Amino acid sequence: MNAEAMSEPRQITIFDTTLRDGEQSPGCSMNLSEKLEMAQALVELRVDVMEAGFPIASPGDFEAVKAIAGAVKGVQVCGLARCNDKDIDRAWEALKEAERPRIHVFLATSAIHREFKLKMGKEEIVRRAIEGVKRARNLCDNIEFSPEDAARTEIDFLCEVVEAAIDAGATTVNIPDTVGYATPVHMGGVIKSLVDRVPCIDKAVISCHCHNDLGLAVANSLACVENGAGQIECTVNGIGERAGNCSLEEVVMALRTRGDYYGADTGVHTQRLMPTSRLLSGITGMTVQRNKAIVGRNAFAHEAGIHQDGMLKNPTTYEIMRPEDVGFTKTDLVLGKHSGRAALADRATALGHPLAGDELDAVFAEFKKLADKKKEIYDADILALIEKKYAEK
Ligand code: KIV
Ligand code: ZN
Repeated sequence: MNAEAMSEPRQITIFDTTLRDGEQSPGCSMNLSEKLEMAQALVELRVDVMEAGFPIASPGDFEAVKAIAGAVKGVQVCGLARCNDKDIDRAWEALKEAERPRIHVFLATSAIHREFKLKMGKEEIVRRAIEGVKRARNLCDNIEFSPEDAARTEIDFLCEVVEAAIDAGATTVNIPDTVGYATPVHMGGVIKSLVDRVPCIDKAVISCHCHNDLGLAVANSLACVENGAGQIECTVNGIGERAGNCSLEEVVMALRTRGDYYGADTGVHTQRLMPTSRLLSGITGMTVQRNKAIVGRNAFAHEAGIHQDGMLKNPTTYEIMRPEDVGFTKTDLVLGKHSGRAALADRATALGHPLAGDELDAVFAEFKKLADKKKEIYDADILALIEKKYAEK
C-alpha cells in the first residue's frame, strides 16, 4: 500500500475536454444546443473544469464557448488558444462572461513538431510560450499552458519550457502525450523529472493529457498522478482524436476503487457516469462497446454459472464496484448456456414462480436445451418454460 493512502485522499482536478478534444474527432461533432445539454450534464457530473471549445477554430465554436461560459455555474470554463495574440484574444472574448474562466494556450515543443510543423528553433519556442502566457495572464488569472507533444520532447527542453511558462504566469502546466506514444513508466518519469528539476513547479498544478493510441491513456494518467500530477484531462466515453483520450469514467473509478493505492480521489458524482455516457452516445450516435469498462452494457453483467452463484451469495465475489455507484440500476445476471441452477431459481423467484427440488431440475433441463439454441434467455422464455412444466402436471 502506498504511504499516502493512509491520510486524507489528495483531490485530483478533473478537466473534461469532451466538448473540445472529444468533439473535434470524427463522428463526434455537436451543434450548439447539444453542446449546451452536454455542458449541463458535465456540471451535474461535477467535473472541475470543462474545456468548452477552441474559439478561433470557427464561428460556431466561438458561439458555443460563449454560450456555455454564460450558462454554466460552479465550474471553470476553459477555451483553447494557440500561442498567438489573435487566438488568445478570441478565446478571452468567448470566455470573459464565465463565472470562472480559464485560457488554455498551447505550443508544440518536440523536435518533430519544431522541425516539420512549426519550423522554429528552441529559443523561439521559449520566447513565444512566454509571450503567449503573459498575454493571456493579462486578461485572466487562470492560465493553463500545454507544450504539445510533450511526451516526445527532450526532457531538458521540456523542463526549460515548463519553467519559463510558470515564471510567465501559467497556473497549470499540462503535459500532453499528444500522439499516445508514452507508456506508464515513461509518462510517470516525465512528471517526476518536472517535479525534481523545475524549481518553480510548486507554483503551478501539473496536469496530464493522454491519448489512447496504444490503449494506455488511463494507465498513463494514473502513473502521472502517482508521480505528482494534480489534474487529469479526459473525456466522457474516452472520445477524442484517433483512438481517443483518457476515459473520464475509467480514470475516476480507478482512483475511487483503488484509493488504497493512489491516496487520491476526485469530486466526480459517480452515479452520473452512466447517464452522462448514454447522453453523449445519444447525441453523437457513437455507442460504447458492450464490454467497455464502467459504462458498457456488460460492465456489470454475469453469465457464467459459477460467477452467478457467487454473486447471489455475495456481490463482492465478482464485482469490485457497486453498479449503483456508477449509475446502473443493478447487476445483470444474464441467463444463457453458461448459467447455473442458482441463477435460474433466483430469476424464477423474481418472476413470481419460486422453484425448488424436482421442479427446478426439470425446468433447468429444459432451460439448458433452449440456451444451446439462443444467445440469451429472456424472462418471457423462463415464464414459458415454467408454464409448460405446470401444464404437463
Ligand atoms: O493532445 C494535445 O496535445 C492537445 C493539446 C491542445 C493539449 O489536445
Ligand atoms: Zn489532445
